[in-house]
Amino acid sequence: MITMSPLEEFSGQTALVTGGGSGIGRAIAVRYAAGGGNVVVLGRRAEPLEQTVQLAREFGVKADFVTCNVRDADAVTAAVDGVVEQFGSIDALVNNAAGNFICPAEDLSPNGWRAVVDIVLNGTFFGTRAAGRHMLAAGGGSILNVIASYAWHGHPGTVHSAAAKGGVLAMTRTLASEWAGRGVRVNAISPGPTETEGAGAALWPTDADRARVLGSVPAARFTTPEEVAESAAFLLDPRRAAYITGDVLSVDGGQWLGKAVYADSSAGARG
Ligand code: COA
Repeated sequence: MITMSPLEEFSGQTALVTGGGSGIGRAIAVRYAAGGGNVVVLGRRAEPLEQTVQLAREFGVKADFVTCNVRDADAVTAAVDGVVEQFGSIDALVNNAAGNFICPAEDLSPNGWRAVVDIVLNGTFFGTRAAGRHMLAAGGGSILNVIASYAWHGHPGTVHSAAAKGGVLAMTRTLASEWAGRGVRVNAISPGPTETEGAGAALWPTDADRARVLGSVPAARFTTPEEVAESAAFLLDPRRAAYITGDVLSVDGGQWLGKAVYADSSAGARG
């Protein structure tokens, strides 16, 4: 039986959110704070992280930030250890930090490949390993990886990101089964096109690109970081999602299912 109001679901707990200075990462951090949880945001630049911390503190929780590049395994481990030292535990880790740009595979330089794979795949493992050790020792915790549907269906121009996110999906399922018996849940969330500056600049830079992306979503709209964060909060919730591990929640208006091919889906079942 669920006895706690959804708005207190993280009371007494602490989350670390990578890439928490903007977009989906910021929205998840603020939503965690709204649920009564302490939150630490990690990223490369202090200024946007400070802004997230201010927004989180408005909910009366403790919040802080750490500047760190997720590509640096030692720095990530030190950041995670610092969270435990400062707050007493790390109950949730959100691996949200990402790097992305559209590039034909044949034009992608080895450095471009490495940059994205290092951030998305290696960065996720570094944070997961460091936080997982504390969670396993404490007997519980929740890890949430932010992926994209091209992790399983692929998409032209995203070979670096799709390969990395596909790796994160495999990591999610592998560690879910490896750690479930010791109380640590590992899930993923797959947002569709989300109204953030970073995603817009990287993935739909022109009006024509934007219209094409919108046309690919059966729900016929973009989503917001706050809407994605609400689903993230559900998966992070140790009560409502206690029995969910190794899963992927798509928050994409049906985008990955594709649009109607043989019939006009907007015309109703019988037209
Ligand atoms: N097209 C092709 N190659 C690109 C590119 C693009 N749009 N942007 C970067 N690269 C290549 C660079 O040319 C470089 O390779 P080279 O040395 O062979 O020339 C390599 O990627 C690394 O670029 P650099 O700018 O030095 O990397 P960085 O480590 O500073 O930045 C990125 C990493 C490239 C992933 C950068 O886009 C980033 O940090 N993004 C974070 C925010 C973001 O992407 N948000 C999107 C969310 S959907």
